[in-house]
Amino acid sequence: MKTEIIRMLKDCDGYLSGQELCRRLSVSRTAVWKVIRQLQEEGYRIEAVPSKGYRLLESADVLTKAELESCMMGRRLGGNVFFYEKTDSTNCRARELAEQGAAEGTLAAAECQEAGKGRRGRNWSSPPGTGIWMSLVLRPELEPSRASMLTLTAALAVTAGIRKVCGLEPQIKWPNDIVLSGKKVCGILTEMSTELEAIRYVILGIGINVNMEAFPEEIAATATSLFLETGTRWKRSELIAAVMQAMEGYYGRFLQAGDLSGLMDEYMAQLANQNRQVQVLAPAGAYSGICRGINAAGELLVEREDGTVEQVMSGEVSVRGIYGYV
Ligand code: BTN
Repeated sequence: MKTEIIRMLKDCDGYLSGQELCRRLSVSRTAVWKVIRQLQEEGYRIEAVPSKGYRLLESADVLTKAELESCMMGRRLGGNVFFYEKTDSTNCRARELAEQGAAEGTLAAAECQEAGKGRRGRNWSSPPGTGIWMSLVLRPELEPSRASMLTLTAALAVTAGIRKVCGLEPQIKWPNDIVLSGKKVCGILTEMSTELEAIRYVILGIGINVNMEAFPEEIAATATSLFLETGTRWKRSELIAAVMQAMEGYYGRFLQAGDLSGLMDEYMAQLANQNRQVQVLAPAGAYSGICRGINAAGELLVEREDGTVEQVMSGEVSVRGIYGYV
């Protein structure tokens, strides 16, 4: 009922009478009033005028299961949300849900992660009240070798979501860091479970720095947030819904092609290192070259001094700009 009330208040331009809410939900006025009180306590500013009804003035950056459902109800991706005030890692929760049979599109999101995981075994700082920490369960019918392409697909969805909600133009640091002003605003950690030659499920873990005012010293030089870039506090639920909506489109196009051929132009248009000198830190040794985009498999094309072009696979290397993080 909470989800429906949030949704009806959001959809209504003016006042929504208590009577109308009771009629639509087939519940008593007291039941409606109780939920309105709860919502006000959670941070929604709802005006209650005796002869007119209820009006949503503005919603703060509330992140709850009902708020997320009200933004994504009926969606293929994100329509089924599990929300945690505090958890170790949403990737762990999503994995658990997937093992229990959760359908494709199930989303695990948290207010705070106590053991957020980054790539290469690093920690991911995930304090409460400021960021988006979420993991999406996907069950694509693909060979496991193609799963890394999903990470690039998710990077596109995040840039589209940020563009739509904040009006910013983020860039992508291959394969899947999203950057603004040369600093990281989002990271993606893809994990999967396979069976013989098939994917059982993929967990797309997405961390977006939204309303942080500062970062721990060790990452302050390379991390930024949407708040730091704009001076505005953003509603995380809106951003999550925008990313999920964009992901539906990109994921559909990716599955149809079976690779990134339909998405690579869009990806390259946002590639932070395009046509710039990069350093590839490969296990066999480091080398530098000019970044020439990606191919349909999502590999980075790096032109070496002798003109040969290396196809760099994600996972095995780290790529740096020669002047720093990007
Ligand atoms: C990176 O190192 O760039 C990847 C960071 C991924 C962080 C997200 S936050 C939600 C999900 N849960 C985790 O534990 N990690 C991912």
